[in-house]
Amino acid sequence: MNGKLRIGIVGLGRLGKRHAENLARRVGDADVTAACSLVPEELEWARRELGVEALYDDYANMVAEADLDAVFIASSSSVHAAQIIQGLDRGLHVFSEKPMGVSIEECLSIEKAVAAHPDKTFMVGFVRRFDPSYRYAKKLIEEGAIGKPFLVRSQTVDLDEYAPFQVKFVPSSGGIFLDMNVHDIDLARWYLGDEVASVYAIGGSFVHPEFEAVGDADNTCALLKFKSGKMAVLSVSRTAFHGHDTHTEITGSKGIIKIGMTPAKNRVELFDREGARVECVKDFYERFAEGFLAEAEYFVESALQGRDPGMVARDGTAATEVGFALGRSFREGRIVTL
Ligand code: NAI
Repeated sequence: MNGKLRIGIVGLGRLGKRHAENLARRVGDADVTAACSLVPEELEWARRELGVEALYDDYANMVAEADLDAVFIASSSSVHAAQIIQGLDRGLHVFSEKPMGVSIEECLSIEKAVAAHPDKTFMVGFVRRFDPSYRYAKKLIEEGAIGKPFLVRSQTVDLDEYAPFQVKFVPSSGGIFLDMNVHDIDLARWYLGDEVASVYAIGGSFVHPEFEAVGDADNTCALLKFKSGKMAVLSVSRTAFHGHDTHTEITGSKGIIKIGMTPAKNRVELFDREGARVECVKDFYERFAEGFLAEAEYFVESALQGRDPGMVARDGTAATEVGFALGRSFREGRIVTL
């Protein structure tokens, strides 16, 4: 071992490639020694672009055979749980993309596996916790800048042009609440320091009926009531035309924090015959590139130093529980108590 964390990455799709590039090129103490994907072209990409030689189309073989200290899971959400548990049982540190699991049973099994391996670092990729602005907001809240926070309003909004991809993604992603709102749910718990007691969700397929056909929606709104009575209002849209528009507002007894209300690409504003405008970030990666790198660095440092990453499997379970309850509320048209 050369002092670096030897990592096997599974999933080299839309996001997995970005993670692989970060780990191989930008995170100093990481070494990508193996990669796994069901798609042969992606494995070829890992060999050609990153020089990874140990390539697998079967995850069980990768964790059994490759020289690894850790696995980085960026595969489809529906296989996270099995891969997390297999990785831990093989004695590896584990990073998993969100959602941690797509059912509550899966999450509880993961919690058990994490508890059985207390010497291993385990982290879920709630990337917004690593974004500089979201982190700074957390620091301000902890310093009492807005008094006692009691309301979070947060949204995740994607460009309409990705809708055809998202329709195909629904069966393996867990649907709109688990796939997209899961970030806002995690932020609301993180900022309010409380657990959700009940939820009510509405939504519909206002632009793309294809979502309804697969039991999902393209736009949703949700109300969350926390155990102490604190509140969250969360929404999702898959049908925006201006850009990837994730923003969040936290109201407290002494002030309000607003994060990223205009998803500007940069600080340029164009003033012309059309009026005044800014260009927006196009997708989640453009918005959260710094966060993705920071979370990878944090995972690698935590594993190498045996440091508690401070994010526990319970956070992953809680987000899935709430996402699941939102889905149920949306389908059944009633308040769901957790
Ligand atoms: P994708 O569909 O583009 O790629 C999926 C990858 O997983 C492919 O490389 C495929 O070969 C691999 N895979 C699937 N099942 C596998 C199995 N059984 N064994 C080995 N490899 C397998 O998906 P995308 O968009 O890259 O998403 C991957 C994960 O990242 C999802 O869990 C998603 O929720 C998460 N994600 C997180 C984001 C964030 O903001 N943190 C943003 C986008 C995705």
